[in-house]
Amino acid sequence: MRCPPASEIKPHHKLIVGNWKMNGLKADARARLADLIAAMTADTDVKYAAVLCPPATLLGYVRQAMDDLYICGEVVMTVGAQDCHSAQSGAYTGDVSAAMLADIGCSHVILGHSERRQGHAEKDAQVSAKAVAAHQAGLVTIICVGETEAERGAGTQLDVVTSQIKGSLPACATPENTVIAYEPLWAIGTGKTATNDDVAAMHAHIRAIVGSGMRILYGGSVKAANARDILHTPNVDGVLVGGASLVADDFVAIARASA
Ligand code: PGA
Repeated sequence: MRCPPASEIKPHHKLIVGNWKMNGLKADARARLADLIAAMTADTDVKYAAVLCPPATLLGYVRQAMDDLYICGEVVMTVGAQDCHSAQSGAYTGDVSAAMLADIGCSHVILGHSERRQGHAEKDAQVSAKAVAAHQAGLVTIICVGETEAERGAGTQLDVVTSQIKGSLPACATPENTVIAYEPLWAIGTGKTATNDDVAAMHAHIRAIVGSGMRILYGGSVKAANARDILHTPNVDGVLVGGASLVADDFVAIARASA
């Protein structure tokens, strides 16, 4: 069986996205994949879709490994990238286009992650332009939004997220080609997670903006211990996992918590 296209992911699947960030060499990926594949192929009853987002250097390798993969039951496993350029091709040294990602078999691309917004000064308009390119290439975009600690302290988190969504989603965004990931910046890599009430309130707010059907993920220090509560909060359609996605057992436990 070939690594399935994103259209194989059904509405009842929780989306479990592993953002490996800038971590791992081939040997790490090989070992992690072997563990993930062994565990996930045994998941015949749990309904989730796992999207692995390795660094660009490992995309082809991970995708190739999935080509040989037989996923039984309801589990779907695909590969996604962590960023793309807004142009199709051209003089953009060091960049990778959405068409290139689609060409090697990616189904998804993360856009507007806070580490891109902060470390690379990416603005909403740029995220939106990248999303247009990604949709044209047939990729599903995972568009990240989230407030800083200071913004939450000032009580402006809903306004901040509204403005990020309005600025970062292009007109061509649909529930089929777009996923929102709410990641409060103060929860990313810190071990702090938003309370269930905070998550529920923000996700209800985002739902009111994007309408029914579009997936809304939560991200920020998701781990095996808190995944079940988060994944069963209303309007949470999956999770975006950073640190814990580097440990196969932890990522599998998070995915299984969607049952
Ligand atoms: P974390 O990262 O799970 O390590 O907090 C999440 C993310 O940045 O996507």
